[in-house]
Amino acid sequence: MSTYPISVERVSKEYVNGAVVALDDMTLDIEENKVTAFIGPSGCGKTTLLRLIAGLEYPTRGLISSYGNPIEGPGPDRGMVFQAYTSYPWLTVSANVEHGMQIQGVRKEERKERTEHFLKLVHLSKFAKAYPSELSGGMKQRVAIARTLAQSPQLLLLDEPFGALDAQVTWEMEEMVIEIIESESKTVILVTHDIQEAIYLADRIIFFTRQPGKIKADLSMDFKEGKRFLRKEDLLSREGYVDMEKTLYRMMREEIQGQIS
Ligand SMILES: Nc1ncnc2c1ncn2[C@@H]1O[C@H](COP(=O)(O)OP(=O)(O)OP(=O)(O)O)[C@@H](O)[C@H]1O
Ligand SMILES: [Mg+2]
Repeated sequence: MSTYPISVERVSKEYVNGAVVALDDMTLDIEENKVTAFIGPSGCGKTTLLRLIAGLEYPTRGLISSYGNPIEGPGPDRGMVFQAYTSYPWLTVSANVEHGMQIQGVRKEERKERTEHFLKLVHLSKFAKAYPSELSGGMKQRVAIARTLAQSPQLLLLDEPFGALDAQVTWEMEEMVIEIIESESKTVILVTHDIQEAIYLADRIIFFTRQPGKIKADLSMDFKEGKRFLRKEDLLSREGYVDMEKTLYRMMREEIQGQIS
C-alpha cells in the first residue's frame, strides 16, 4: 500500500469529450512534509491536477490516492487556497477564519484559539474585526490562507495564491509561507508560473509540458541541502541557484516556443 500523502497513477483528464487532453498519463508520488511545486506554461494542466487531488473533479482514467485510499471527493485532510480572493464579504476577518472550522464542528473555544493563532501567523491579528472590503489584496489572501490552515489539513494545495498580488507583496507572502511551513510541518503542493518563487519555496519542482500535460522534468532542489531560507536574498547568492534558474527558464522557453510553432 502506498505510504505517500498523494499518489497519482497513470492519470489522464480529458474535457469536451476528449477534444481537450488536459493531463496525459501522469504518474507521480508527493512526499510528506515537502513542498512540491507544479510549474509549466499556461494551460498545461496544473490547476486540473490540483483539483483532482482536492477531489473537486475526477480523472478520466487512472487513480489518485492518499496513503493508499482512493480520493473520492473533498476531505478535511486537504485544504485548497485559490488564486482569487475567497473571503465572505459579510463576515469579519476572524469570522471568515472561524467559518470553515464551524462547518467541521470544531468547539467554540478551540475555534477562538486557532483563529488567534493563525491570524497571528499571517500577521493579521490587528485586523480580526475588520471586514474584507477594508483589506488590501495581499491581506485578503492571507485571510484565505489562515482560514485553510485553521482547518488543520495535512495537505495544503495552493493554486497561484499570489498571482493577483504585486511583486513586493508577493515577496512578503513567500517569506510568510516559509515561516508557516517551518512552524506547522505540512505537505504543500504549490502551483505557480513564477520560476523564482518555485525555486525559493519548493523542495522539488515538477515541470509540466505544454498541453497535453505530461511531466517534462522532476527536479530536486538539492543545492539547498534541505535548508529553507527565511530571507529570499540568502537563497539567491547560494551556489547552484543561478544554474537552477537557467535550467527552468530554458525549459519554459522550449515549452512556450513549441506552443507557438
Ligand atoms: N471545466 C473545463 N472544461 C473544459 N476544459 C477545461 C476545463 N478546465 C480546464 N480545461 C482545459 O484544460 C486545460 C488545462 O487547464 P488548467 O486550468 O489545468 O491549466 P493551467 O496549467 O492551470 O493553466 P494556467 O497556468 O493558465 O492557470 C486547458 O486547455 C483548459 O482549457
Ligand atoms: Mg491554473
